[in-house]
Amino acid sequence: MLDAAPVLDTPWVRDQFPAFAAPSLQGQAFFENAGGSYPCRFVVDRLHRFYLERKVQPYAPYEVSRLAGEEMDEARARLAVMLCVAEEELSFGPSTSANTYVLAQAVRRWLKPGEAIVVTDQDHEANSGVWRRLGEEGAEIREWRIDPVTGHLDPGRLADLLADGRVRLVCFPHCSNVVGEINDVAAICAMARAAGARTVVDGVSYAPHGLPDVGALGCDAYLFSAYKTYGPHQGIMALREDWARELPNQGHFFNGSILTKRFTPAGPDHAQIAACAGIADYIEALSAHHGGPATGAPAARFAHDLMRAQEIRLLRPLLEALSGRNGLRLLGACPCRGPRPHRRHGAARSGRTRRRSARPARNHGRRGGFLRRAPLARDGHRSRSRRAPRQLHPLHDRRGDRPPHRRSRHRAAKLIRAAQEGVCAS
Ligand SMILES: Cc1ncc(COP(=O)(O)O)c(C=O)c1O
Repeated sequence: MLDAAPVLDTPWVRDQFPAFAAPSLQGQAFFENAGGSYPCRFVVDRLHRFYLERKVQPYAPYEVSRLAGEEMDEARARLAVMLCVAEEELSFGPSTSANTYVLAQAVRRWLKPGEAIVVTDQDHEANSGVWRRLGEEGAEIREWRIDPVTGHLDPGRLADLLADGRVRLVCFPHCSNVVGEINDVAAICAMARAAGARTVVDGVSYAPHGLPDVGALGCDAYLFSAYKTYGPHQGIMALREDWARELPNQGHFFNGSILTKRFTPAGPDHAQIAACAGIADYIEALSAHHGGPATGAPAARFAHDLMRAQEIRLLRPLLEALSGRNGLRLLGACPCRGPRPHRRHGAARSGRTRRRSARPARNHGRRGGFLRRAPLARDGHRSRSRRAPRQLHPLHDRRGDRPPHRRSRHRAAKLIRAAQEGVCAS
C-alpha cells in the first residue's frame, strides 16, 4: 500500500501555508505542534475576508449577513461530509477542553446514582479531568490503566471494568500523546456499546494526521481541535444525534431544540467557524493535487492516506535505526513496522508470543449510530486500524523478544508518567 501511495508534494504543501513564506519566520524549524499547526492559506483568506466584509450578525435578511451565515453553514456542512456525520451532529466551541467541559456538565445530570465512568491514564487532561471531577458528585470513576511497560490500553482490562454493567460512559483517546499509539476506536466502542456505555473519543492528536471517518468509528462523541488541523482556534465536536437529544441542553433555553447549539453555551465565533471551511478547501486541494478525488469524504480519505503514507515513509528508517540500538526503548505503537507480538506485563516468555487475553467483540466493524447522511467512501483508516496487529515494540533491544528486566519496567513506567505530566501541562 505504501509503495503504491503517491508521494506527498512537500513544496506544494508548503506553498499552502503562508507562514513558510513569512520573512520573520525564515531560518526556523517549526516543532511547536502542541501549540497547533499554522493555518493554511484558505483559512487565512477566509478569516481575513470575514473580518473585512462579513463581520455582522449572521443570518439576517441582507446580503452581507446572508453571506456570513452561509459561510458558517458551509464550514459545518463540508466538514460533516468529510467526517461522515450529519451536519446537525457537528458543534463548534472555543476549544476541545471547552467542549468536553460542556459535555461533562450535561453528563453530570444525565448519570444516575451508582453509575460509573471509565477514564484512562493515556489521555490528555481535556478528556480526563472533566470526567474525574464528576466523581466529586457521586459518579464512580474507574481508571482504565495503560500497561506500565508498553503504555498500551489493553481491551482485556476494559472488559473487566465493564463487566458489572454499571458503566455508562467510556472516555479514551484516538491517539495517545503519551505513547503515540493509535487505539482501535471501533473495537473499543463496540465493546462499550455492548456493555450499554456511551463513548467519548479525544481525536485531537489523531485528526491532524488525516480526518477520520467518524461515522465508521462508532463512537458517541468525537472531538478535535481545528487549530491543530490547519484551521482557526476552534474545537470541533461530533455528537451522535440520539445522545445529543438525550443529554440536557447546555445552551440558551430557546436554542434547546437546535442540536448544533445545545452544547455551545457561549455565542459562536462567527468568523472562525466560517474560516473552518478553509480546512475543507485545503484537504480537497491536497487530494486533487495528488490525483485523488476532488471533493468531500473521498477527498478526505485520500488526503488521510496520503499523509499517513508520507509519515510512514519518513519515520520508518528512523524507527528502525532507533529500535536497533541497545539501551533505547521505543514506547507505543508503530504502524510503520512489521507485525510484532504484543507482550503483556510480566507475561512474555522468551521466543514466544502471547495473544492478548481478551480480544474485543468481533462486531467492531459495524457502523455506529452517527446519522450517515454523508456519502461513505473508501476507508483506509478503518481497515488499517482493524487489520493492523498490535505492533507494539515495548522494550525493544537487540535481543528481540526477551522480556524486559524488572528495573527497566519500573523505569519505563516512570518515563510514561513523566511524559504524561509533560503532556498534560501543555
Ligand atoms: C490529545 C489532546 N487532547 C486535547 C487537547 C486540548 O485541546 P484544546 O487546546 O483545543 O482544548 C490537546 C491539546 O494539546 C491534546 O493534545
